[in-house]
Amino acid sequence: MKIGIVGATGEVGRAMIKVLEKFNIPVKELRLFASKNSKGKYLKFKGQEIMVEELTEDTMKEKYDFLLFSAGKNISKHFAPIAAKYGNTIIDNSSAFRMEKDIPLIVPEINGYLVKSYKGIIANPNCSTIQMVLSLHKIHEKLKIKEIYVSTYQAVSGAGHKAIEEFSEQLNGNKINAIFPKQIAYNIIPVIGNILSNNFSEEEYKMINETKKILNDYSIKVYPTTVRVPVIYGHSEAIVVRTKKSSSLNELKELISKSKNVIYTEEIITPLDVEDKDEVFVTRLRQFDTNTFSIWNVADNIRVGAATNAVRILEVMINE
Ligand SMILES: NC(=O)c1ccc[n+]([C@@H]2O[C@H](COP(=O)([O-])OP(=O)(O)OC[C@H]3O[C@@H](n4cnc5c(N)ncnc54)[C@H](OP(=O)(O)O)[C@@H]3O)[C@@H](O)[C@H]2O)c1
Repeated sequence: MKIGIVGATGEVGRAMIKVLEKFNIPVKELRLFASKNSKGKYLKFKGQEIMVEELTEDTMKEKYDFLLFSAGKNISKHFAPIAAKYGNTIIDNSSAFRMEKDIPLIVPEINGYLVKSYKGIIANPNCSTIQMVLSLHKIHEKLKIKEIYVSTYQAVSGAGHKAIEEFSEQLNGNKINAIFPKQIAYNIIPVIGNILSNNFSEEEYKMINETKKILNDYSIKVYPTTVRVPVIYGHSEAIVVRTKKSSSLNELKELISKSKNVIYTEEIITPLDVEDKDEVFVTRLRQFDTNTFSIWNVADNIRVGAATNAVRILEVMINE
């Protein structure tokens, strides 16, 4: 297969290279694209050094089996339609197309069937939404979720490579503030993305709308507060759920454990425990009453929340 990665030098792009290798995807030719600043750099795939090329319109007019995009919304908006016009299938990590009616928004374990025999642009959901719906979808299937109250604890890597650099500089005492609206070192910031006219943050808006689209249920109410914390990798979420049907603690445990690529554990799990893992970890399950329960979940935002989900979409499509 011929695969291209757009944004290959970024946090997500580099993880995509690792996951393609780990999942043994039969790649014959891998092309790596980034900005002109990265042209001529080398990245390793299966022991081979591959040169990074500058992304241009012409490179997107070639035929690929899959193009994995992860270079931000503006790059996706411009280049993905060109690649699609030339017959390519694009799996896009940005928010550019997620809420478009005709574009599938895919978490393969939940709605991968939607992309069987599909061609064109496919959207990869937002990182905090992916790990939440993976933890909850079996519960929704059986017990019908009415309301989700979620507070996130999101790692700085969620804002890209430059955000990690800013965090390290601040830890070293340098007062740099280019990416985050406030200092993140020794601090937390209760806003992710811009604040919209309705006072929600962009990240909260994504969690509300993407959850409904992925679970294909527009009656679910999602009440998020998204928060940046001084952790490099791994998003955590404290989630309270109200279901229409009643259940027992054992049934909830069983439904979470049955979810593919979700690990239920009674151990304490932290972001440091999940780095480079391809599963969501769910713990601290508590039941308040027969229709209300709470969990804590943790996942590697770059893997589960981006690269791994994209490669799993590709896997579903090649294995159909
Ligand atoms: N980080 C996460 O947890 C996460 C999760 C889900 C989705 N996403 C989404 O994935 C995308 C990438 O995120 P990231 O964290 O990997 O960001 P990042 O570390 O900042 O990397 C950005 C990538 O985009 C490339 N790029 C920037 N401008 C470009 C241009 N004009 N032409 C071609 N390539 C260009 C960069 O190339 P250079 O190195 O040459 O600048 C780099 O490869 C974003 O849309 C983000 O919202 C991220």
